[in-house]
Order: sequence, then C-alpha cells, then structure tokens
Amino acid sequence: MSGGGTAGGNERQIAYWNEVAGPKWIRVQAAMESRLTAVEDRLLERAAPRAGERVLEVGCGTGTTTARLAGLVGEGGHVTAVDVSRPMLEAARARLAGLAQVTLMEADAAFATFAAPFDLVTSRFGVMFFEDPAAAFANLRASLVPGGRLVCAAWGPIADNPHWSVPLEITVARLGPPKPRRPHAPGPLAFADRDHARTVLTQAGFAEIAIEPERVMLSGRSLDDEAEMAGTMGPAGALIDEKEADAQTRAALRVAFREALPGYADADARLPATIHMITARNPA
Ligand SMILES: C[S@@+](CC[C@H](N)C(=O)[O-])C[C@H]1O[C@@H](n2cnc3c(N)ncnc32)[C@H](O)[C@@H]1O
Repeated sequence: MSGGGTAGGNERQIAYWNEVAGPKWIRVQAAMESRLTAVEDRLLERAAPRAGERVLEVGCGTGTTTARLAGLVGEGGHVTAVDVSRPMLEAARARLAGLAQVTLMEADAAFATFAAPFDLVTSRFGVMFFEDPAAAFANLRASLVPGGRLVCAAWGPIADNPHWSVPLEITVARLGPPKPRRPHAPGPLAFADRDHARTVLTQAGFAEIAIEPERVMLSGRSLDDEAEMAGTMGPAGALIDEKEADAQTRAALRVAFREALPGYADADARLPATIHMITARNPA
C-alpha cells in the first residue's frame, strides 16, 4: 500500500469516508454488495477490460469491482485500486489477498501520481466526492495512455431513484429538511446533472464524452435489509445523522421505511434505479 496524493481540498470527504461512511458501509457490506451487483455488471460490460490491460480503479471501496477487474485483465494485466478510506481498504485487502496483479493504494485520486499510464480508468460510484472535479478528472486523464478510456458509473437524479427519494421524503416529513447545499456539491448525487458532468469532463480535457442514463434493478437481499439500508446510507441516512436523531426516532423511521418499500420494490427486494454511465477518452 502506498501513500501520497493528498495535496488538499478533499479533507472533509476523506474524514467522512474514514470516520462515518466507511464504518457504516462495512456494517451493511453484504447487503450493499448484493444491491450494487447489477451496476457492476453494466460497468464492466461497458468498460470491457481485456486480458493484459492496465486499469486504474478510483474509489475501490471494499474491492468487489477490483476482484472482477483482476480476473478480466488476468495475471498479465494489472489493476491499481485507489481509495482514501482505511476501513474500506482493509476489507478490500482481505478480499484481494493473493491476487498478484492488484495494487491497493491509499491516496486521494484527485492528486495521486501513478507509476505507469493506464488503458482504462474506471469506477463504480467512486468519482463523485471531489471538491474540484475538473482538476481531479484532469489528473485521472493524465494517468491514461493517449486514446485511453474512462468508464464510470454515478447516480442519476434522485427523482429517478425511489430507493432514495421515498426514504428521504419520509425523513424530511419527520425531521425537517437538510441544510442547503451548493449545487453539484461532493456527494453521491454530484453527477446527477448530465450537463454538469459533461462540463466537468470537457474542462478536464476529455474527448468523446457521453453521459447516458441507464435503468438498473438493484438487488436488495430482503425488504428488512433495505429498510436498514435506507436509514443508514444515502440521503435519508445522511439527514438522520445531520439531525442527530435518537435511537427511538431511528427505529420509528426504519418501520416507516419498511412499510413504504412495497410501493417501489418487488417482494424479492429488487429496486428500480437510474445511473449515469459516464464514458470518455483521453485524446490520442
Ligand atoms: C460509494 S463508495 C463506492 C465504493 C466501491 N467503488 C463500490 O462500488 O463498492 C465511494 C468510495 O470512494 C472513495 N473515495 C471518496 N473520495 C475519494 C478520493 N478523493 N480518492 C479516492 N477514493 C475516494 C470512498 O472512500 C469510498 O470507498
């Protein structure tokens, strides 16, 4: 594991992913990994890593996508997986032990310098947390070979993601609205606006930019797990923390989330969602 790449600007998110979101993610890790599998399938289909390629994965988290990338590039290829969160990297390290073609790197991807250029830079939900996204993506572009590709998944608008909008509405009704945030602030919805995402990538020097909405079915493990997830992660989870809700309120909200779930999930806990598939190339 190497350090470096923390020139400044993303300290709040780095602290958040180490002290708050990382530990919470680990608590719901199995359910989280289940629900995001469909997004990983789409991402890998689009990124199409080939045997022998060199890949940079941004915000690798607990390393589920990393493991699949490693299998696809094979022993003749290489995956550098970068993240700022120690708890997430610890889980990734346990999962990826023994895979010689993977290097885990604890660093801020916005500022890190990488040893060799990559054929592909990819990420599932790990590129929405930069304070200065154009500068961060320019750094990522500089790590690509000429003509190298960028393929990242980010969340689409909250209105098209009822697994978040419904719990958020319930929480706002009980606890009040969140503090106002500036548009496109770092967070899961930073690239929910396609025009903004396109502007960021253009400023970063990318060519052949496309930001395509894709419908996916998240696969929750059970409706009970999803009720727990709604109160832990995502916008409702963040608002519950912001309001410092007590245990009784949290429990009451979980019951309300569970009651609302059949309105947008099927009995197998499959939940419709919209992601933005972001693709671009480093000019040749
Ligand atoms: C929503 S999680 C996604 C994790 C993983 N890609 C997955 O889909 O399971 C976002 C990840 O991005 C990481 N992250 C946030 N800001 C980062 C930065 N500036 N550089 C590298 N990783 C970052 C977080 O620590 C976290 O692990």
